[in-house]
Amino acid sequence: MFALTLALVAAASLRPVITASPNPPASAANTVAVSIDASKPGAKIDRNIFGQFAEHLGTGVYEGVWVGPDSPIPNTRGIRNDVVAALKAIKVPNVRWPGGCFADEYHWRKGIGKTRPATLNPNWGGVIEPNSFGTHEFMDFIGQIGSEAYLSVNIGSGTPQEAAEWLEYLTTDQPTALAVERTANGHPAPYKIPYLGLGNESWDCGGNMTAEYYTRQMTIYSRFVRNFNPAQRDTGKMLRIAVGPGGGESRWTDWTETIMKAWQGHQWSWDMEGLSLHNYTVIKWPPAYASVGFGEKEYAEILQKTLEMDGLIAKHSAIMDKYDPQKKIALVVDEWGAWYAKLPGSPEGFLAQQNSQRDAVLAALNINIFARHADRVRMANIAQMVNVLQAMILTNKEKMVLTPTYHVFQMYVPFQDATFVPVTFDAGAYTQGGITLPRVDAIAARDAAGKVWMAVTNVDPNRPATITASVAGLTPRSAAGQTLTGPRVDSVNTFEAPTTVAPKPITARVQDGAVTLTVEPKSVTVISVQP
Ligand code: AHR
Repeated sequence: MFALTLALVAAASLRPVITASPNPPASAANTVAVSIDASKPGAKIDRNIFGQFAEHLGTGVYEGVWVGPDSPIPNTRGIRNDVVAALKAIKVPNVRWPGGCFADEYHWRKGIGKTRPATLNPNWGGVIEPNSFGTHEFMDFIGQIGSEAYLSVNIGSGTPQEAAEWLEYLTTDQPTALAVERTANGHPAPYKIPYLGLGNESWDCGGNMTAEYYTRQMTIYSRFVRNFNPAQRDTGKMLRIAVGPGGGESRWTDWTETIMKAWQGHQWSWDMEGLSLHNYTVIKWPPAYASVGFGEKEYAEILQKTLEMDGLIAKHSAIMDKYDPQKKIALVVDEWGAWYAKLPGSPEGFLAQQNSQRDAVLAALNINIFARHADRVRMANIAQMVNVLQAMILTNKEKMVLTPTYHVFQMYVPFQDATFVPVTFDAGAYTQGGITLPRVDAIAARDAAGKVWMAVTNVDPNRPATITASVAGLTPRSAAGQTLTGPRVDSVNTFEAPTTVAPKPITARVQDGAVTLTVEPKSVTVISVQP
């Protein structure tokens, strides 16, 4: 019998000890002993790791969010009511907009005022961009869902002046010409812009820049693109997020080194508060794996791939630690999720895919990874919010359906801003073909009210797992929550059958201070433990 310790121990006090042993014989007990130490609080799990990303891409914004005020689809000032209600329920902390690659070709002036020019969206199908969803519509949308804005400014094809004027237009309370124009366009009060992305993938679609060239550009934007909102002057200052790496190879570690080194020696005149990381779960390029109609082999392959997120974060965090041991700069995973082959019949460049129970498991595994790195990973944005890639919501005209990934985000709401607490368990192993994965994964946290929450993912699609959890620092009296699974690994929700994968209540047994519950194969479960 061997035990395989997973490399998950960057900050030992915060991180769980997880061991994985090979599949036990069918007769062996399927019990996993979990120790939660609520007396040893770790870092805060920043609610911003549950951020969303909405790019002008396919039907992500047009149709998915914006239908226009004259649409027969129920809307408020052009923004669909059903989508707003669904997003409100998952307490979206921030939305990254307008891209993505789109951001580096976006010129904000075309998206304000009464007359909007039609332009092109060359990145995504070469379709017409009507510019009807612009700055004010985005800020209205943010307000309707109770979220916050994460704007990406155009470094690729724009100028520092253009970006600086956008921020002045949005944030000044002085009667400048731009503020007067904002007022004429219906918003006298300055907007709050808490997060600003300085470019997007500047090493690729954002302009094919070298790390040195990007750093020079970024420092100029950092200097001149100011937030003037008086409410953000002393507290709630805008965080500037520089373009970071897109992988783990030396090209990417060099990128992180270059920017972090520049930051360590930075002058008073520029600064940054975050460095982005983009990492999609994708096998082969262009993406060839199907989002629906796959089997256990592809299930295991994709989940193996997604677990690379942990090593990638650890690698870039280690470089950041060299230049920023106090962890002032956040690592912002502002594009993550599964990227599959486009749905048959869907337009080129629209990145339309289905969302299955595999994606629910994938989402939970990634959120758990972010939570374990909570001291450095303080923001993340799944790609993308509606109708694109690993979406929360799919729409078709007046119809809307919530995906399995949506349900995971809803179940994990209690983890927003909760305090990470260490968890120890023997993960066991799930083997499929030549792939061995940890059979279960778990995290725990304590919320502001003192309640302890545990999330358990049973990766194994064939065997249930019985979890027995002890909680040091708390005497449990009851435990209950929600669990999510589907009939198959590729089960999806459709407009015709919207609840094939839907959360259902689960109650744990509490006896002698231990919490016991059995979780179904390929499931995600979140329970609260009541003292
Ligand atoms: O999310 C789709 C695209 O993926 C984004 O526009 C880009 O930043 C990334 O390559």
